[in-house]
Amino acid sequence: MTRLRTPRWAWVLTGSGHFFVECFELIRSLDHCDVFVTKAADEVLRMYGLKLDFSDTTRVLHDKTASAVPVGEFYHGVYHSVVIAPATSNTVAKCVAGISDTIATNVYAQAGKCRLPSIVFACDTAPELETMAPHGMVKVYPRPIDLENTARLKTFERTQVVESFADLELAVARRKGEIDGRG
Ligand SMILES: Cc1cc2nc3c(=O)[nH]c(=O)nc-3n(C[C@H](O)[C@H](O)[C@H](O)COP(=O)(O)O)c2cc1C
Repeated sequence: MTRLRTPRWAWVLTGSGHFFVECFELIRSLDHCDVFVTKAADEVLRMYGLKLDFSDTTRVLHDKTASAVPVGEFYHGVYHSVVIAPATSNTVAKCVAGISDTIATNVYAQAGKCRLPSIVFACDTAPELETMAPHGMVKVYPRPIDLENTARLKTFERTQVVESFADLELAVARRKGEIDGRG
């Protein structure tokens, strides 16, 4: 059996199809990662026909408890970084409001309380954008409140909000470099 190393990546999947396939590929490029899956993400990834199959060093944690039990590991130095990608407008809004009532919002809140860095790939970043629905690309018009929440999250400490998959890749690669550099 593969030995799990700590500290690890904490990657959160929320209920959005925005670059879901690409996010899965990026997770597969990481070693020693825990993937936290919201209830909505579990439903949505089934609609896209995606399977949560990752490397031997990756654990998958589902949202099955009211108190987000798996998140307790943040207090034992199990994680070095958080990535929330893709991040729904629902999760972004709750993070901005300081709400922690799902596995995603609990990961973000506990990361903040443990002073760990978070990278958030927000879905709603422009007044008009294209995203992947289960049966093909669709046009979406995020509301002013969605755009406002994304902008507000950018002002939060230790939080890097990225607006494109290319920027997500760059942010993850930069963080990977920092982690590897630590030895
Ligand atoms: C197929 C599908 C795709 C969705 N894509 C998005 C999306 O791109 N952005 C978004 O904000 N919500 C999207 N939703 C809605 C969210 O899943 C819903 O708001 C959910 O409550 C989010 O919960 P979570 O933030 O805890 O994952 C989608 C729903 C479905 C069924």
